[in-house]
Amino acid sequence: MTEILRQATLAPSAANLQPWRFLVIDSPELEQKLLPIAFNQQQVVEASAFIAVLGDLECYKLAEKIYGMPVNEGYMPAETAKSFVERYTGMYSSMQPEAIRQKVYTDSGLVSMQPMLVARAKGYDTVPTGRFDKQKFMEAFRISERYVPIMLIAIGKAAKPGHPTVRLAVDDVAL
Ligand SMILES: Cc1cc2nc3c(=O)[nH]c(=O)nc-3n(C[C@H](O)[C@H](O)[C@H](O)COP(=O)(O)O)c2cc1C
Repeated sequence: MTEILRQATLAPSAANLQPWRFLVIDSPELEQKLLPIAFNQQQVVEASAFIAVLGDLECYKLAEKIYGMPVNEGYMPAETAKSFVERYTGMYSSMQPEAIRQKVYTDSGLVSMQPMLVARAKGYDTVPTGRFDKQKFMEAFRISERYVPIMLIAIGKAAKPGHPTVRLAVDDVAL
């Protein structure tokens, strides 16, 4: 799981602010707690684990830490990092909450696909589960309002092959 999450976080994000946070739910007791919140979808109790992807609405507060890292590695001059930190901290802290939310949703949506791809490459299967009561989830797992719930991802080994599936043709989606 740690390796799946590590690789997942290689996703790109606006200003490299990496607003994704993960809550791993991997005990039968917690899955039982999640079951009614996810409208009794069976994968909740059948999966080995769930990754709850959350978005951090205050992600810009980590800008100094994030931009200190390339400086320490020798990838970025300290002056450049300092100007990025000032720019992004100023930009995000003066943004309308809805605009931050949009950015956090975009970045967290991008990262959500990653554990599914990494898990598949390691021989596991996943079900993205977006149908759950967000408010109840936040209450049940005592998550602060600083975070927004994005997606639950069930992970395990498929008991049987998935249903066949379809996609629109490229001609239908290329405008
Ligand atoms: C945002 C999102 C929410 C989803 N929520 C659920 C869900 O709550 N339960 C479920 O069984 N599948 C869920 N899915 C899976 C989709 O139903 C599935 O990807 C789609 O029907 C296409 O099937 P396929 O991915 O097997 O090709 C969700 C997928 C996405 C991207």
